[in-house]
Amino acid sequence: MLSASSVPIVRATLPAVGASLGAITELFYRRLFEEHPALLHNLFNRANQANGTQREALAGAVAAFATVLVERPGERPDAILGRIAHKHASLGVTADQYTVVGRHLTGAVAEVLGDAVTPEVAAAWDEVYWLMANALIAAEARLYAGAQVDDGQVWREMEIAERTEESVDAASFVLRRPDGLPAEPFTPGQYVSVQVELPDGARQIRQYSLSAAPGRQTWRITVKRERSADGRRPEGEVSTWLHAHARPGHLLRVSPAFGDLVLPQDDSPLLLASAGIGVTPLLSMLDHLGDVSPHRRVTVVHADRSPAHHAHRAEQAELAARLPHSTVHLWYEAGARDVGGPRVQVREGRADVSGLDLPRDTTAYLCGPLPFMRAVRGGLLARGLSPAAVHYEVFGPDLWLGK
Ligand SMILES: Cc1cc2nc3c(=O)[nH]c(=O)nc-3n(C[C@H](O)[C@H](O)[C@H](O)COP(=O)(O)OP(=O)(O)OC[C@H]3O[C@@H](n4cnc5c(N)ncnc54)[C@H](O)[C@@H]3O)c2cc1C
Ligand code: HEM
Repeated sequence: MLSASSVPIVRATLPAVGASLGAITELFYRRLFEEHPALLHNLFNRANQANGTQREALAGAVAAFATVLVERPGERPDAILGRIAHKHASLGVTADQYTVVGRHLTGAVAEVLGDAVTPEVAAAWDEVYWLMANALIAAEARLYAGAQVDDGQVWREMEIAERTEESVDAASFVLRRPDGLPAEPFTPGQYVSVQVELPDGARQIRQYSLSAAPGRQTWRITVKRERSADGRRPEGEVSTWLHAHARPGHLLRVSPAFGDLVLPQDDSPLLLASAGIGVTPLLSMLDHLGDVSPHRRVTVVHADRSPAHHAHRAEQAELAARLPHSTVHLWYEAGARDVGGPRVQVREGRADVSGLDLPRDTTAYLCGPLPFMRAVRGGLLARGLSPAAVHYEVFGPDLWLGK
């Protein structure tokens, strides 16, 4: 909880800080990377820095956290930090790094807001920062303990056992432990971080959802090659590297599994709605449900450019067929007439959940580009699902947080 003396100060300065968060976070990262260039090279995702999405996610998190502290003091503000803690843990963030981040963040607030930042204002925002930092440090310590690793010591080598082309632009990689032991357990919906050394020596990290059920000897990830859509933006660094170089027998540096997108403990009907490569975490859930809860009512929705772009298309239909109370609804922008099958409905155009037979107590899982998830979520809320029953995964910095 924020101290009684800081509450009015944070409340009074929140509009000014909130309005300047774009400038504050930009300056913060500039100063941080000037002093510690290795952080940009080997820890932060430099594409997210270049396109500004990480700045936006950080600003959204700070604003959401401070707003809860001063406007809804009865709520637990750390509830909005869960996703960040999982992401940090998958990257090996350590408690001592919060001191340097805090120094640059509060320094950027003072520099951008100038004279408005009196010593009292600085102290109140420092308190907000350390409430967030301490909540994250504690959550990350629990995650490291759960993964049975020392704080931040997340990297281990996994050997590529198989590589399969799953669509025109996605390949899957089956990973096994080099010591022959079974791959660690995880919860369907979770992801791992993968770190690769690029030609300029940078060791860039990206996250990949595990795309098959837990409980096997191996893990599997499926990577879409991020091409330059318009020829102006660069190709994706890590996905292009993996498609070009990762072959059976090679070793990859991989973290334990983290992520808070998990299935409910109850028996409620489920909607698994994905678009494009967003199929991966939901495929793991579908696979798992076939193992542990085959009588569950499951509605599978997937949208893609065409059947040729739909990664794991045949596998998804086979996994759904193991669940007698499941239905599959596919939407393709083109080529819908060429495919289909028993209990698989295929339509042309954009996914539309308004006509689906969905019970009111459905729990929904969404994964895909933000416009897809916004549209599906809007359709589900319009049909009476509660916001708390709609869960999602974003394949990048979460720009939904606090909105
Ligand atoms: C929890 C989670 C799970 C994920 N699961 C999967 C998964 O299962 N499968 C999967 O394929 N992906 C997944 N992702 C996405 C994955 O982590 C990577 O983001 C993706 O592979 C792209 O990485 P990249 O290095 O190839 O591209 P990057 O180099 O990171 O580039 C990403 C985009 O930014 C653009 N960009 C780069 N530099 C600039 C610039 N200067 N200006 C403007 N634009 C720029 C690029 O053109 C590209 O479009 C997941 C992400 C998260 C967070
Ligand atoms: C209170 C302090 C902090 C806050 C509020 C914060 C907030 C965030 C947020 C909101 C994200 C995006 C998460 C997502 O949507 O997936 C993120 C990612 C990240 N954070 Fe932090 N963070 C803090 C401290 C730190 C520290 C100390 C480090 C280590 C130097 C760090 C390193 C990272 C990295 C490397 C990413 C991923 C960046 C990317 O993928 O572009 N963070 N953080």
